[in-house]
Amino acid sequence: MKRSKYVCQECGSESIKWLGRCPDCGGWNSFVEVVESPKKSSPLTRFGNGQAPIRLPQLPQEDFRRVPVPISEFHRVLGGGIVPGSLVLIGGDPGIGKSTLLLQLADAVAQPVGSVLYVSGEESLPQIGLRAQRLGISRTEIHLLAENSLEHIVAQAEAMRPGLLIVDSIQSVVLEDLGSAAGTVAQVRECTMRLMNLAKGSGIPVFLVGHVTKEGVIAGPKVLEHMVDTVLYLEGERYHSFRILRAVKNRFGSTNEVGIFEMQGHGLSEVLDPAQSFLSMRPSHPIGSTLTVAMEGTRPMLVEIQALTSRTVFGLPRRTANGVDFGRLLMISAVLSRRSGVSLYNQDIFVNVVGGLKIEEPAADLALAVAIASSRRNAPLDPSMILLGEVGLGSELRGVNQMERRLAEAQRLGFKSFVVPRTGERTPVPNIHPVATLREALAIALGPGEPEPEEEAEDREDE
Ligand code: TYD
Ligand code: MG
Repeated sequence: MKRSKYVCQECGSESIKWLGRCPDCGGWNSFVEVVESPKKSSPLTRFGNGQAPIRLPQLPQEDFRRVPVPISEFHRVLGGGIVPGSLVLIGGDPGIGKSTLLLQLADAVAQPVGSVLYVSGEESLPQIGLRAQRLGISRTEIHLLAENSLEHIVAQAEAMRPGLLIVDSIQSVVLEDLGSAAGTVAQVRECTMRLMNLAKGSGIPVFLVGHVTKEGVIAGPKVLEHMVDTVLYLEGERYHSFRILRAVKNRFGSTNEVGIFEMQGHGLSEVLDPAQSFLSMRPSHPIGSTLTVAMEGTRPMLVEIQALTSRTVFGLPRRTANGVDFGRLLMISAVLSRRSGVSLYNQDIFVNVVGGLKIEEPAADLALAVAIASSRRNAPLDPSMILLGEVGLGSELRGVNQMERRLAEAQRLGFKSFVVPRTGERTPVPNIHPVATLREALAIALGPGEPEPEEEAEDREDE
């Protein structure tokens, strides 16, 4: 709101009303109106402290003394530990485990950093206490604060100088000056700016939780993601236990890293060997189950694809896809039927990616096709065979990116046999079968094309 006052041009005395004669100096007609805009109680969107520019070579060689995080999956995703004065945003669906992960982070780094201030704007202290109890966390270095006034949070942090500040969540804190509700664009932006100034000014690393909207982006302005140094997303299927921590922006490291966790009864535990955990339930001569190596960022990950075909009893054949694209499933089924001698016209097809993962890359096409064919022919597969390749409409196999990394990962995990597309390059891997078409791949994986089982035989089996 604008306020106006009247100032005497002769002697500078002020009045809230216009006066014809100045009571101080006695001058006539000397008052003029001055409009004041309200004073900001503090500089809000301000960064830096008004210094002159300096030459590049004169910059002090700052070697970020990163704080190592004993949770190695988290450590790697951060680009190698916590950078002092950095602002990190962690987004994710409600209930995915953000608060759990940050409390575990607090516990893990409490000793090296000295003290951690964990502020919750949405949970009460007893609620946080219950979670800590469940996680078995009871360090004295962890200080809890249930508060949503950002001014108070900043004041506490400045007084306490913790080695790490966690704010859960940015949508729940407010600057009272702004007069708008928590979570609004203005609030989120200004609160983030204040926390950034705190981080940069004091060197305290700050971790923020950001809620995600229905569309899957962090609620609030996109500028929030621009302002912070690092944006991580914690993703996963709510009803499966794997959680993937992914860097989507990182000023101090690669954005290709992912960390894999599993939500257990006592919090998130690292999955250091995802392959083994995904595969522990595999039978020794699987039918309708294949393995491929998918890339999660730069990280190769072994994935099991299962398929089941079963004769359509009534009406149109059904196709159900869990973890693979439905359109892709329809396409692969059509290529199998029309070009590769696997008849599926009267078959329902169910496909599932084990572990609740979602695969979007075409590199998994071959594994999907072979899983369906194996189920249809009732043909057991070699459990240590890895299938890689994109299937084209003409049943030709196409190359996939980062083939070497995928093969290296599979070899490291003890897999012995590989079916890959025949491309120009030679890959120095023993037991590799380069093939040109899906039909050739089926011959290697399932043996010479046996006829599909008789329908009657299948019926008898069902009984
Ligand atoms: P939470 O960290 O509160 O999620 P967010 O902060 O992302 O909303 O975790 C919520 C879920 O995690 C909750 O449904 C219970 C489950 N959980 C476990 O399975 N094990 C545990 O040890 C904890 C603490 C939570
Ligand atoms: Mg939470």
